[in-house]
Amino acid sequence: MLTDTNRLDAYVGALKTCVGPDSIVLDLGAGTGVFSVIACELGAQKVYALEINPLIRLVDEVAREKGYGERLEIVQKLSTQIDLDPKADILVSDIHGGFPLYETGLESIIDARERLLKEDAVIFPAEESVLFAVSQSEQIYRKHVETYLEERHGFKLPSGERLVKNRPFNARSDDEVLLSEPAQFALIDHRTNSRTSFRKELDFEINRPGIAHGLRGWFESRLPGGFSVSNAITEKNSTYSAPFFPFEHPVSVEPRDTVKATINAVYEEGNYIWSWQTKIVGAVKGLPKAEFGQSMMASMVPDTRSALRRSEFYTPGLGIEGEIDKFVLSKIDGANMSGDIADELFERFPGRFASLDKAAERVYFLVERYAEE
Ligand SMILES: C[S@@+](CC[C@H](N)C(=O)[O-])C[C@H]1O[C@@H](n2cnc3c(N)ncnc32)[C@H](O)[C@@H]1O
Repeated sequence: MLTDTNRLDAYVGALKTCVGPDSIVLDLGAGTGVFSVIACELGAQKVYALEINPLIRLVDEVAREKGYGERLEIVQKLSTQIDLDPKADILVSDIHGGFPLYETGLESIIDARERLLKEDAVIFPAEESVLFAVSQSEQIYRKHVETYLEERHGFKLPSGERLVKNRPFNARSDDEVLLSEPAQFALIDHRTNSRTSFRKELDFEINRPGIAHGLRGWFESRLPGGFSVSNAITEKNSTYSAPFFPFEHPVSVEPRDTVKATINAVYEEGNYIWSWQTKIVGAVKGLPKAEFGQSMMASMVPDTRSALRRSEFYTPGLGIEGEIDKFVLSKIDGANMSGDIADELFERFPGRFASLDKAAERVYFLVERYAEE
C-alpha cells in the first residue's frame, strides 16, 4: 500500500488541505500508521491511530523518535468496539478492496460517523463511485475462466462451469479494452450514506467492434482539495486490483449493440454477494445476442450440515470443543493463572491435547479474546 505512490500522494495532499493545530484526526484502519504520522507532522492536536492489526504497534517507535507524546494515541481495536473522547473532527480511512463495497468497510465508516465524529467533521474520502464498463480481454477470460474448465489427467473440476462463471475475480491484463463508456453503479457520499447493499440497472452502448468477455468494475474516491484515487485499468500501479465479472461465454459485439446489466451487491455479515444479469441486444436486427444470469450464490457449494445447524428448529447440544472452551472460560475469573488453567485443562480432557503446550495455546487464545483488559 505504501508503494502505490499515486494513492499515497493523493491522501497526503488531501491531509495537507485540512489538518491544522486544532485538528483531532481519526485514522480508521491505520495499517502501518502512515496517515497518522503525517497528520502528526502536520501539527494535529490529537491523532487516533485505530487499527485492529498488531502491525500498528510499530508506529510507537516513530512516535517516540519524533516526540509526539500524547498527540498520537494507538488504539489496537475494532472501530465498532471503541468510544472516543474527545471525538474527532477529521476521519481519514482507506479500508478498501477492489471496491469500497468490501468486507465491513461501509458499515465501519457509517458507525464511525455516527458515534466517533463531531458534527460537521471532514470525512475522507468524501465520495466514492463504483463504475462498470463492458470489457474485452481474451487473456483474462482464458486465465481466470477457461483454464479451470479443461480436463487434466482425466480430471475435470466438478461443477466447474457453475463455480468459475459465477464469481467476480481480481484481474488485470495488458490486452484489455473497454467496449463501452463507463456507467455508475453506486455513488457513496460518506457524509450521508447509510446503505451497505446496492442494486442498479445499467445500460451500455457498445462503441467499437469486439468480443465482450465480461464487465470490468472499478472505483473512484474523491478526497479534499480535489485529489482522487482510482483503480481503473489505466491506473497500472494501483494497489487495488479491479474486479472483473465474467460473462457465461464471450459474445461478439458491434457498435451500437446494447448491453443491459442489472447488478446487485447484497451485504451480509461482512461479505458481499454479487449478482449480475446481462442482456446483449444486436443493433442491426434488434434481437438478443445473449442473456446471462450469474450470481455468487450459484458458485457456492451448499453446506447442508451447516444449513441444518443454522435452523431455528435445530436443538443443539454442546460438543467437545464447546466443553473445552466452557471449562476454560469458567476458570478465567481473575483468580487463576493461565498456566494453572492449562494444567487443569490438560488433565481434565485426557488425550485431547497432544501436549501441555497445546492445552496452554488454547487457554492463551481464549484469554486473548475474552479476558478483561
Ligand atoms: C487497506 S489497509 C489501509 C492501511 C493504511 N491506512 C494505509 O493507507 O496504508 C486497511 C486496514 O484497515 C484495518 N481495518 C479495517 N476495518 C477496520 C475497523 N473497523 N477497525 C479497525 N481497523 C480496521 C485493516 O486491518 C487494515 O489494516
